Amino acid sequence: MDRIRIEGGHPLEGVIDISGAKNAALPLMAAGLLTDERLVLENVADLADLTTMAALLTQHGIAVEPEQKRCLSLGGAITNTEAPYDIVRKMRASILVLGPLLARKRVARVSLPGGCAIGTRPVDLHLKGFEAMGARISLDGGYIQAEAPNGLQGAEIMFPFVSVGATENLLLAASLAEGQTVLVNAAREPEISDLIACLTAMGADIAGVGTDRLVVNGVGALHGARHRILPDRIETGTYACAAAITGGSVLLRGARAVDLGAVLAALAQAGVVIEEQAEGIRVSRRNGLHGTDAMTEPFPGFATDMQAQFMTLMAVADGASMITETIFENRFMHVPELNRMGARINVHGASAIVRGVPSLSGAPVMATDLRASFSLVLAGLAAKGETVVNRVYHLDRGYEAVEAKLAGCGAVIERF
Ligand code: UD1
Repeated sequence: MDRIRIEGGHPLEGVIDISGAKNAALPLMAAGLLTDERLVLENVADLADLTTMAALLTQHGIAVEPEQKRCLSLGGAITNTEAPYDIVRKMRASILVLGPLLARKRVARVSLPGGCAIGTRPVDLHLKGFEAMGARISLDGGYIQAEAPNGLQGAEIMFPFVSVGATENLLLAASLAEGQTVLVNAAREPEISDLIACLTAMGADIAGVGTDRLVVNGVGALHGARHRILPDRIETGTYACAAAITGGSVLLRGARAVDLGAVLAALAQAGVVIEEQAEGIRVSRRNGLHGTDAMTEPFPGFATDMQAQFMTLMAVADGASMITETIFENRFMHVPELNRMGARINVHGASAIVRGVPSLSGAPVMATDLRASFSLVLAGLAAKGETVVNRVYHLDRGYEAVEAKLAGCGAVIERF
């Protein structure tokens, strides 16, 4: 199993190219099930999660082929409506095939998902939405069995709380349903707007983009399209933390500040210099970091996917910070590992009190989930001495070419 070794203490200086967003690519690939025609996605990152989604679509009958560098071409007829446990267990976002399969084939059987070990993460909102659209749902042997013999009907669906995945799944399904679907309290994450842009290019009729009320008028069929995936805002925020924690200066080429929501404001408040430039965002730190509170919230609030990385930054700031996680339970698994490197972090329920220390010290540590694993890389970049991060397969799910991107800016890092 791969590990990463980091020698800390080298400020990052240079340019990091930001890849296409993983969390946009996943629902966009699922949109390939909505038409037999060719959907070409540009700016697709080379990530384990996207390979998993490609495998899932392939076994549904969709041909997933690289078209040119960083482009994927999807096309073909659905030949199988079952999403098997062996693939779904690797990645929770596999549930996103349920909406398209139901809409096109009126039947789907999808294993209940696994994914990151960050809390219970049910899919009840997805299922209630499909039921409101006329589907019958039952659970059978660990599988969701869904049927809509008369096709999906438009409905008003009010989410009791914001869910990115449920909003995406219902958007995908509603695009081909009969009549109008209204999604109330929908997620407003940039990846949702990206999905709407692609669905619209495929012929869907969706109003309310960027708001929490989406109105979808179902159409009889969707057609092929070409769509460029937006830059990864979580990768952007993560490398911003890397530049900041090492006291360096990095141009995050291709990054879009508008997609970062409250994350950039929190970094600025902590003393990190953020400059929007024509080519991207430059992130630098010349002076000390100040302890800054953060609370995770749906977009445009502070992203839960940035919580672990920001906490690592705060671990070496002057003063204390309180970091509160409101989206997921059990998302502080990085804390004991950071404390082993000398951080002073106490968890009280959904909040972590971080008392900044002057420096961290290198240690062998264990990655537990995707974003937590990068928080340990950040700690290693800043720490005195050598850090070895174990279980880096978590990292490979969502970060492309980590060692190359960091080493290109002067980090001393290797996989072994
Ligand atoms: C997506 C992102 C993930 C990010 C999360 C929140 C992808 C592939 N993943 O995950 O990186 O951390 O948004 O921004 O885009 N919930 C339920 N019932 C449901 C659905 C969700 O209770 O049916 C709960 C979840 O357990 C969680 C909260 O709602 O506590 C938000 O989850 P959701 O927004 O759905 O996250 P994902 O779409 O799984």
